[in-house]
Parts: sequence; structure tokens; C-alpha cells
Amino acid sequence: MSADKNDSDKKPMQTWSGRFSEPVGDLVKRYTASMEFDQRLADADIVSSLAHARMLTAVGVLDAQDLAAIECGLAAVRDEISSGKFPWSQDLEDVHLNIEKRLIAIVGDAGKRLHTARSRNDQVATDLRMYVRTAIDDIVAGIAELRLRLLDLAEAHAATVMPGFTHLQVAQPVTFGHHLMAYEAMLTRDADRFLDCRKRVNVLSLGSAALAGTSYPIDRERVARELGFDGVCGNSLDAVSDRDFAIEFAAAASMLALHLSRFAEELVLWSSPPFAFVRISDRFCTGSSIMPQKRNPDVPELVRAKSGRIFGDLVALLTIMKGQPLAYNKDNQEDKEPVFDVVDTVLPTLAVMAELVGGGIEIDGERMRAATSEGFATATDLADYLVRKGLPFRDAHEAVALAVRHAEREQCDLAELPIDILQRFSPLIDRDVYAVLSLDGSVASRKHVGGTAPERVLAAIREARASLSPGK
Ligand code: ARG
Repeated sequence: MSADKNDSDKKPMQTWSGRFSEPVGDLVKRYTASMEFDQRLADADIVSSLAHARMLTAVGVLDAQDLAAIECGLAAVRDEISSGKFPWSQDLEDVHLNIEKRLIAIVGDAGKRLHTARSRNDQVATDLRMYVRTAIDDIVAGIAELRLRLLDLAEAHAATVMPGFTHLQVAQPVTFGHHLMAYEAMLTRDADRFLDCRKRVNVLSLGSAALAGTSYPIDRERVARELGFDGVCGNSLDAVSDRDFAIEFAAAASMLALHLSRFAEELVLWSSPPFAFVRISDRFCTGSSIMPQKRNPDVPELVRAKSGRIFGDLVALLTIMKGQPLAYNKDNQEDKEPVFDVVDTVLPTLAVMAELVGGGIEIDGERMRAATSEGFATATDLADYLVRKGLPFRDAHEAVALAVRHAEREQCDLAELPIDILQRFSPLIDRDVYAVLSLDGSVASRKHVGGTAPERVLAAIREARASLSPGK
């Protein structure tokens, strides 16, 4: 048998198969190919190839004719891809080899020169960084949109009283606006986390070649500038192997998903009839095929569950990386699907939450107020009142606990107890106590920074709006 199975009558060999004596089996080819999913990097791959070719020309490795052919060929490839005419082939393994092979088919030898001074290892890391960078910008914009809707709703309900809970037991009155602004604060930190992560994403890997750098006189700063990177990776081994930028991205997404999941859980709770604080519009609900009275809050339930996928993507990325020796290993090919899944999950989740908050829910302020009155929510206010009149806090706590027990037996709120009854629990109690026991008085008194008073909530909303306005 001939030693050379590269003969024309044999199966086509791979781009890199010069030293191999038999072609890759079909199963192995399918198993190792990433073309089905990494096509999504095509645009970044073309843009980064153009910058690489222009740099090689500027430093004298390619000539102007080669560059012109490469530019023309890559433009044709781009058109083919966007019009769906590109001949994607699993035989060519991944997006990089598909594009390169097609370029060569279109422009010939100039296309074969494009891969000078680079490797797929630094190429794929660069493409993924560009993809994640765009995803971050889209997610940050999506968060801003949701924040704006939250701010509008919070403003409309800056003075709407609702029960604040600890242990899911009525604790103290808060305003609904304040409650919403808690999520706004979480989302602000989420956006900051993405923007901080972007700094570490936006560093150029190209120029690291396979792992050790290259002997060509490359100009990495030039490539970085053209591609909008803030700098270049300082170690070639690190640049081709680590995916901490993608892991960090998934971690930021996990925190965001976690916050959205908590908010979604509250919407589910609040929309259940025993609470009935909010009514989710029909267009966000589904019915039951057996129980005619049901209106199920499917959208917030799914938002709550999507966090599970995103945490899973994060854990997948961490696990893919954890045992890898330096430098590049094929393991890293598995980084793409989790990253894409994060993007595909987070963006629609943000969009649907923005729609829900911006007009998909009706708030029942009366119901919220009634639930607050039922829960002795101003008991702490009464204790604070007694402390202001000179009673030590522990004694005040005890006196109020007895008053609550009495009101519970009488099945009324503290504010409904007559003055002579209240005075039984402490002679320090006077008629002015009723102002303290009122829900509006309670929230209005908490007007310090971070407090629930309507005036403070409005101030927080103003600050948040200013931080969201363009130019900030
Ligand atoms: N498809 C590969 C990936 O996603 C590209 C890099 C391949 N490099 C290699 N040495 N086989 O990681």
C-alpha cells in the first residue's frame, strides 16, 4: 500500500494534514468540528483577519497586491455568509478554516499568505474577545432599558405603602418605590460588573501565534488600535490559553440572572391571589387546561428558572478551564456554546422583564396598604417613640410586644386601640402616638440616605436618572 494516502483518489485531507498518513474518520470529524456553532464568530474572524493582513503589509511581510486580494476576497466571503450562500463544511472543522479555505478558493495564493505569523489559537481567542465585548455592550444597554422602566414605576409609587418583609413576615412599612429601587441598585452594580469585566476582555490576543509568539516583525499595537482593543496581552502563553475573560463574563451574567430571578420570584408571589399586590397582564400569563380560574405567571417563572441555565454555563466554563496545562488545548473549543447560551438567555430575559415592568403589571396600592395594616408593621415605630420619651429600648420592646399581643386578641391594629388601653402598656404614651402609628408617618420618618421615605425615594430616582443619562 502506498505510504501516501494524500493521493487524489483518497478522501480529502484536512488543512493541517500534511504529516498525516490517513484521513480523519467521519465520527472523529463530526466529534471535533465546531463549525456548526462557531459560525457566529464569522464577522469577528473576518474583521480580525483584515487587521492582521493590513498589519503584515505595513511591516513588509505581505505586499500591497496580496493585501488587495485578501481584502477583496474577505469582502466576498462576508457577502456569501450574510446572504446564506457560503458553503459551510464540517470537513473544514471550524469557522476559521472554513473562511480561510474559501478565501483561498476565491483569491488563490494571497489567501494562503494570510495565516503568516498567526495561529488559530490566537485567532480564536481574539474572535471570542470581540464577540464577548459586543455582547457586554448589548447587555449593558438592556440593563439600562430595564432600569429606566423600574425608575418610572418607582416614581409613580414613591409614596405607595407596602409591607416590608423579613423572613417573609411583615416587618415594617416601606414604600413600593423603595422596594423597586432595591432592584434598580442591584442592576446598577450588575452593569458596573459587566463594564469592569469589559476592560479585561478588551485586550488583544493576536500576535501570540500558537503559543510562543512569532519571529515576524509584527506590530501588535497597530492591530489592537484597528480592532478597538485597549491593549495587547502581555504573555503569549496566557493569551492563547486562558478564558478567564469569558468566565468572568458568565459570572457577571450569573449575578444579573440571580437578581432577575429574585425579582421574578417576588412578581410570582405578589401576583398570587392571597397577596394580590400586582396583576400581571394577560399577555404575560397562561391559563390552565383543567382549572378555569387559573392565570399562571409563566414569564416571571421562566425568568426565575433561566438563572439555572446561566449558572450552568458558568460552571461549565470553570470546569473546562480547571485542569488545563498551558497553553492552548482543544478543551477550549467547548467554551463557545456556554458563552453563546449566556448571551442568548440574558438578552431576551432583560427585554421581557423591561416589558413586564414597563406596562405589563398593574399595582394594587390599596391591597398593599391593607396588608401592611394587618401585620403590626408600625410596632418598631411605637418602640422608638417610647425610647424618645426616655424608656430604654429593651423595655420599650417588651411594652410594645404586650400591646401587640393585646391587639392580636382584639383582632385590630395598634392604631385602632384607644388611648387608655395603649397607656396600660406604658404611661409615657400620649395622644401624639397615633401619628407615629400611622403607615405614612412611619415611612416619612425614614428620610435619611438609603431610607424608605417618599422624598428620599424620589431623590434616589433623580440620582439614578442622572447616572443613566447619555455622557455618563
Ligand atoms: N476551533 C478551535 C477552538 O475553538 C480553534 C483553535 C484550534 N487550534 C488548534 N490548535 N487545534 O478552539
